[in-house]
Amino acid sequence: MSQNFPESRLQELLPELIAFRRDLHAHPETAFKEHRTAERVAERLGRLPGMHVRTGVGETGIVATLAADKPGPCIALRADMDALPMEDKCGKPHASTYPGVAHACGHDGHVACLLGAAIMLASEPGRLAGPVRFLFQPGEEGGGGARFMVEQGALENPRPAAIFALHCWPFLPAGYVGMRSGPVMASTDALDITIHGKGAHAAHPNRGVDPIVAAAHVVTALQTVVSRHRDPLDPAVVTIGAFHAGTARNVIPDAAVLSGTLRALSQKQRLASLAAIRQVIEQTAAAFGARGELVHKEGYPVNVNDPGLKEYLERVAVEMLGRERVVDNIPISMGGEDFAFYTRHMPGVFWRLGVAPSDGSPGVESLHNGCFDFNDEAIETGVRVHCGIVWSWASKDSAAG
Ligand code: NI
Repeated sequence: MSQNFPESRLQELLPELIAFRRDLHAHPETAFKEHRTAERVAERLGRLPGMHVRTGVGETGIVATLAADKPGPCIALRADMDALPMEDKCGKPHASTYPGVAHACGHDGHVACLLGAAIMLASEPGRLAGPVRFLFQPGEEGGGGARFMVEQGALENPRPAAIFALHCWPFLPAGYVGMRSGPVMASTDALDITIHGKGAHAAHPNRGVDPIVAAAHVVTALQTVVSRHRDPLDPAVVTIGAFHAGTARNVIPDAAVLSGTLRALSQKQRLASLAAIRQVIEQTAAAFGARGELVHKEGYPVNVNDPGLKEYLERVAVEMLGRERVVDNIPISMGGEDFAFYTRHMPGVFWRLGVAPSDGSPGVESLHNGCFDFNDEAIETGVRVHCGIVWSWASKDSAAG
């Protein structure tokens, strides 16, 4: 495969992709507001032969299909397009021109890689095993854009046999990719907790029920959900990230409000932890004469990579990049990803694209840091692997041996 790779075409294309990526970085748009981004992507896709482009899917998403009528299995590739509501501090010439919005998770780079793959794949229709579906989705950062894409037919006509997506990864150098089988990212559940007490004068606590004291005990007791209730071999995280109560030093308030998150890697653990969390909240609060109330909002499902497809991706990546640049069993992240809404419906793999400087110099910040800027060196690797996934599909089963 790598011998057949149209190297010169990729090299010719890279300046355009880098410019495209930097333009998105300078014009970042948050969840479901990716109008300019989607317009630019759709315009470029629309110029490709054999590409059918549908816009406005899940608000601002794009569902594009190459060689829609070609018999054979369809494969889907996905990129997310949204930026984060935070200041861009990267200090580069292409820094965000929109105050308070930044591409600090590298989704600008994901778009550039997928667009590059679409251009490359459209230029050699004869090498396709079947149709190729390109999903440019909105609202990954907490918006669950993937769910709306699925609801609006992103996985139909034709239905893909498999789906792949990359995410940039600052812990691997550019030119490297990482992957693993099974659970790779956690489920995310939002926990909204209210501890109802009874207001009183601070000097007469016996006349009321102090929700702050009860809530402080609830936060402490919640630490035992992971340390005592959880199966030690099945990870989970419970974090209370916000605690709000009271308005004055001499007033016992009526209520305390907490919010937090539960992360897990299995549905079993998720449900068991939720039950324990509810019990701890209600019964700890009750021990202080207060009433604990949990409102649970389901977030993203666990992301699980299909073992067979992960083996396939690994073979493709080794062919394209060489064994030494393909890292297996990269660590699981307890972060969440709405890619899991696609893999509820079909097998898929969510893999990592290295974006640390390839010369080993420090200089890439962690994701969601205001100084993060996708490393353009990595675009080439992203395009290469996306293309390899599609081009090798025809010989997938014979190569599986
Ligand atoms: Ni991201």
